[in-house]
Amino acid sequence: MLNYLIIFAIPWIAYAYENIALLKSAWQLHPYMYKHKIITTNASNAVDGLKTNLSYFGGQCTISANYQYEALWRVDLGAVLGIHHINIYYKTDDVPWGPGNGFTTRFLGFSVFISNTTDKEDGVLCFKDDKFTRYTIPAVITLNCTHHGRYVIYYNNRTSTNLPPDYSAYAFNELCEFEVYGCPSPSYYGEDCSQSCPDQCMDSRCHIETGNCFGCKVGYQGPTCDQPCQKNTYGHGCSMICGLCVNGEQCNHVNGTCHNGCEAGIYGSHCQMECPQGFYGRNCSNKCSEKCFIYKDCNIKTGVCFGGCAVGWKPPLCNEACAHSFYGPNCRLRCSNTCINRTCDAEKGSCDMVQNEIGHKNSKTSDIIVESREILFAVLTALVVVFV
Ligand SMILES: *[C@@H]1O[C@H](CO)[C@@H](O)[C@H](O)[C@H]1NC(C)=O
Ligand SMILES: *[C@@H]1O[C@H](CO)[C@@H](O)[C@H](O)[C@H]1NC(C)=O
Ligand SMILES: *[C@@H]1O[C@H](CO)[C@@H](O)[C@H](O)[C@H]1NC(C)=O
Ligand SMILES: *[C@@H]1O[C@H](CO)[C@@H](O)[C@H](O)[C@H]1NC(C)=O
Ligand SMILES: *[C@@H]1O[C@H](CO)[C@@H](O)[C@H](O)[C@H]1NC(C)=O
Ligand SMILES: *[C@@H]1O[C@H](CO)[C@@H](O)[C@H](O)[C@H]1NC(C)=O
Repeated sequence: MLNYLIIFAIPWIAYAYENIALLKSAWQLHPYMYKHKIITTNASNAVDGLKTNLSYFGGQCTISANYQYEALWRVDLGAVLGIHHINIYYKTDDVPWGPGNGFTTRFLGFSVFISNTTDKEDGVLCFKDDKFTRYTIPAVITLNCTHHGRYVIYYNNRTSTNLPPDYSAYAFNELCEFEVYGCPSPSYYGEDCSQSCPDQCMDSRCHIETGNCFGCKVGYQGPTCDQPCQKNTYGHGCSMICGLCVNGEQCNHVNGTCHNGCEAGIYGSHCQMECPQGFYGRNCSNKCSEKCFIYKDCNIKTGVCFGGCAVGWKPPLCNEACAHSFYGPNCRLRCSNTCINRTCDAEKGSCDMVQNEIGHKNSKTSDIIVESREILFAVLTALVVVFV
């Protein structure tokens, strides 16, 4: 009955992160040589899963060379993986641990780095001992170290000429077991590594405990990157500002394209360019009037000519001549009430000769020319009639 209970209880209480260093490739800077050979003491002993015999002779511990001032050991996880915590079993020689054990002084001062390269300087320091003494350092240490990385590096040195009192004179890395707990796939998280990281996490990686993304794919934001960019932003980290999409619409949250086109006066897939001079309106498809006061220079949005219209043309767009009975700059003047029908030349205001009373004293030169033309036309018509 007791066994039955235990079998069902264990999954609920045990840490279920996996030892992702187990049987991975390991290396040390200064291996211990026996008659010029590395025998049973090499770097991979720290990741062999064996930690029952913590002496030199047991063949389960990594042993580094004597008389070195630096000790360096590392394991290659094979890929950038999510790490949760690390357990280190130092060599005890299977004698009681404590101030009387000769190995406590060698363990002191160590550090552990997580790096994406074999160089610790490229990585993050997850632990550096600067407070333990030979009385306080445990033989088995658990380090919290939630980082993503490929190499886990153990380092110690005795290069200082002024070492703390308990420190050994030389540096060692006598690791009997070095366990790195984490998830074997970087795109999973949670204690049993069963939950997949949110879809929009950059590189499909997330925090091994919380599942929060370290960064989002382009166009998304929020801790789990589940929110598309909004409020007229788009792109990487939602750091880009949308152009002027029609009706102030949100642009595509990934690439900034305006789905329904641009506001009047703006063009381009991102609606960030103003209409070229001489054009205005939706898609810049309208031409500014040639009768703008400044030739073809109008408001890109409305088409209203800057500085008004050329004399005789009707504001604001200057596409039509002045309305009936108006003339002059911006069609502000009334034709004289002595003009027939109050119709006059839109530009100059002279009464239209065709309909003018013959011999009207207000007739101007241009009107006389028109009159002469009329007469000439009448004469020709008469001639044609006579000839026929
Ligand atoms: C280290 O130990 C591993 C596993 O026992 C073995 O395969 C490897 O050849 C050893 N390396 C050296 C340099 O002795
Ligand atoms: C460790 O292994 C060595 C060599 O086989 C053996 O002599 C020693 O008794 C072992 N120690 C323990 C604690 O098993
Ligand atoms: C390793 O690379 C991954 C992905 O590029 C990154 O998230 C992580 O922070 C890096 N780890 C270190 C220790 O630099
Ligand atoms: C490591 O993390 C565990 C679980 O969150 C916590 O109980 C423990 O105090 C932490 N240890 C250190 C040294 O921060
Ligand atoms: C040696 O250790 C000391 C103290 O921990 C540290 O300040 C120093 O940077 C280390 N030396 C090297 C070469 O890393
Ligand atoms: C932006 O994305 C949308 C939707 O996927 C697509 O239709 C459009 O062609 C893209 N625009 C560009 C400039 O790539």
